Amino acid sequence: MTHDPISGNEAGESSVPESVDPQREGLSRRALLFGGGGLAVGAIAGAALAGNVIDRAATSVDAIVPWRGAHQAGIVTTPQGFLTLIAFDLADGVDALRLERLLRIWTDGIDRLTQGRPGLTDTEPELAAHPARLTCTVGLGSGAFTQTGLESRRPVWLRPLPAFPNEELDEAWSGGDLVLQVCGEDPSVVAHAARFLAKDVRDFTTVRWTQNGFRNAAGQVPAGTFRNQFGQLDGSQNLQGEEAQYVFIDDPTAPAWLLGGSTMVVRRIRMNLDTWDELDRPGRENAVGRRLDDGAPLTGGTEASAADLDAKNALGFPVIDQAAHIRRSRTDDPTQRFLRRPYTYQGEPAGTISDTGQVWIAFQKDIEHQYIPVQRRQSELDLLNVWITPIGSAVFAVPRGVREGEFLAQDLFG
Ligand code: HEM
Repeated sequence: MTHDPISGNEAGESSVPESVDPQREGLSRRALLFGGGGLAVGAIAGAALAGNVIDRAATSVDAIVPWRGAHQAGIVTTPQGFLTLIAFDLADGVDALRLERLLRIWTDGIDRLTQGRPGLTDTEPELAAHPARLTCTVGLGSGAFTQTGLESRRPVWLRPLPAFPNEELDEAWSGGDLVLQVCGEDPSVVAHAARFLAKDVRDFTTVRWTQNGFRNAAGQVPAGTFRNQFGQLDGSQNLQGEEAQYVFIDDPTAPAWLLGGSTMVVRRIRMNLDTWDELDRPGRENAVGRRLDDGAPLTGGTEASAADLDAKNALGFPVIDQAAHIRRSRTDDPTQRFLRRPYTYQGEPAGTISDTGQVWIAFQKDIEHQYIPVQRRQSELDLLNVWITPIGSAVFAVPRGVREGEFLAQDLFG
């Protein structure tokens, strides 16, 4: 049994080279040995040793992300290609006992589905056979506490975010008593898992909203980065390998169900492609501060390079605009960093050519210290705000991972 220092999860008995971490990269031993469309283990290990994040193309349909462990899977897991995010409201009369029952049901369902086994009452078991890096991550909204008599156990930060100047929030995309984040490399498997888990708790819940998202096909761009619908490489300066330090709650005074858990911010951010179309390429690059083709900062280097924010052009003006997205989003305080895990959404309203944006998800151990100051600075001034508008917002507490014999958030009900 190996133990992953970042996810804290058990990676299973494995002869996988240490640099190829099965939990983070979703490679089961079986996938490494037999999967990957004939891709040799040596090629995979070679890519890892070359310093690349393992390419998602190297994963097979049988790739399994372990889910039992110190933290829930689907947080520091290298983002899969597809997302279904469902927020639920608890039905009237659901008390703590029934919430506990719901979380027991989900624990069992997630246990099975993510490991390639059908759920107990699965009417389409064949859709569960090849999990393709399926992860299901559960979070609790404030209503899970206020409605069930658990208010005294609600973390103080578990409440709607403060209002920000540039947003136009729509209730239809906001809030929720519970959230289920289902991610995977196969949209059919993701859809099946999401429906199964939603169906399993329909006596206790109603669906408040569902948001579907996607990134690039495996192999298009290095895993961890994707091209958003503005054409930008997105994710370049994300946490890479330092996640544990910033993402998982490690305050010893935190309640046991949260110690090892996280906080989740969900924002639905509309991207106005019609007005973005009016902007030329230099204008587009200026808005973010990075090049469109290779994602390098306008001050040079590669996608991995940090921008030189002090650099001036021949006229003495800053090369990275004072209001560029990367200048306004970055922080001088390293303790304010967080993990971004966004997906592109694509709406389909009749009569419009594009209704697109991001289901923008961030994980951090402390929302008020890490996320809010950055969001506040960005909302006040950021060139990108001309083309992006937050239209939905929600906050969830993500319970710690479950070990053998446990169920999700069980310490909450002690
Ligand atoms: C649709 C909305 C958004 C788009 C299209 C977008 C796009 C981008 C792009 C292209 C980059 C540069 C590449 C990278 O480092 O990932 C970036 C960086 C970044 N973004 Fe965003 N972003 C969006 C929303 C947000 C929000 C809401 C936040 C947080 C409040 C945020 C925080 C950051 C941070 C922290 C960086 C890295 C800055 C650095 O250290 O260089 N972004 N974003």
